[in-house]
Amino acid sequence: MTQAKISEIGANFFLVRSGERDFHRNIYFKKFSNNGQNINMIFDPGTKLDGDLVMDASKKLFGGVQNIDIIFLSHQDPDVSSLAPFILAGSKKSVLLTSIDTFRLVSMYGISEKRVMLIENLKSEILTIKKTGHKIRFVPAYYCHFRGAMMFFDYESKILFSGDFAAGINTRKGDGIFATEESWEGIKAFHTIYMPSNSAVRETVDRIGLMNPLPEIIAPQHGDVIKGEYTIEFLTRLSEIEIGIDYLKKIEPQKELLIETISSFIDRLKTAFPDEWKKLKEELKKPGQFTTVFKIIDETILDIKIDYLDALRYLIDSIERLSNPENIDQIKTFLNFELENHNLILPIEIQNKLKSEDKEIEINSLLY
Ligand SMILES: [Fe+2]
Ligand SMILES: [Fe+2]
Repeated sequence: MTQAKISEIGANFFLVRSGERDFHRNIYFKKFSNNGQNINMIFDPGTKLDGDLVMDASKKLFGGVQNIDIIFLSHQDPDVSSLAPFILAGSKKSVLLTSIDTFRLVSMYGISEKRVMLIENLKSEILTIKKTGHKIRFVPAYYCHFRGAMMFFDYESKILFSGDFAAGINTRKGDGIFATEESWEGIKAFHTIYMPSNSAVRETVDRIGLMNPLPEIIAPQHGDVIKGEYTIEFLTRLSEIEIGIDYLKKIEPQKELLIETISSFIDRLKTAFPDEWKKLKEELKKPGQFTTVFKIIDETILDIKIDYLDALRYLIDSIERLSNPENIDQIKTFLNFELENHNLILPIEIQNKLKSEDKEIEINSLLY
């Protein structure tokens, strides 16, 4: 049987991770304990693939799955919820704690209404666990990424279990469970793909910001556990990046402009530098590192398959690699001219790549 590696991330709050290196599931356990009384909870128990891990961790922490009292589901996705029916079967006393919108969907696993506590039916969003006296709070994460997504705050550990909100693909190198600066890229990528819009994410950030006390640790269902300086820092960044439909809306017009720019540039190259034109044309049709960068049919660029700025970086690198060194500056000037003509907004780093050596000397000679 798979041995669960258990990490205590806060007071009686434990994490077990599934084994994937790039995109794993975080399964959390909480033991509310007072005067010999216990309430045992599991958060987003994962999938059938996690059965052994959950069995082993439950045995070590609670004395067995049969002692689980509450299964909390942040939302209904299969990576979150598909093990829940098996835990309900393994612990006859256990109940599912989730939102109405989530239950409407997970009820299709054949879960009876009698086994469910709906958050909306509870008398308040802040509750006290009768048996142990611990305080808990439910915090909605509307549309992050599901209408009925719910987060859970444990006052004892000051941990906010956030489900898919603040989750990430693993971009941090090495072992460990806590977020570093390297984790940000993975969090950003996950939110760009899975969260629907900037406003949904901002509202959830604001709702967390209004909590009193503020969470000290954010524990998401994927990626690294966020604590210390990164709690505020990553929440702030999340409220500022372009996400979901807003991201698509922002990049589509730029992408179209870049297609027009590159098409005009290539036409110009064909007459002025036929050798380079031939080489570049073949290069752009080739698959890149992860995917074909451009979709080209009959010498016409129809689409850009990656982020438009990455596509432009790829084009500049190809020009530098394939052109006769004497012609590079002139070819870059052509490209620059077309970019300016189409009013494409470029980061400084790309503007610098396009600067020719001569121009720099000219500027330097003006300065000195
Ligand atoms: Fe999800
Ligand atoms: Fe998820």
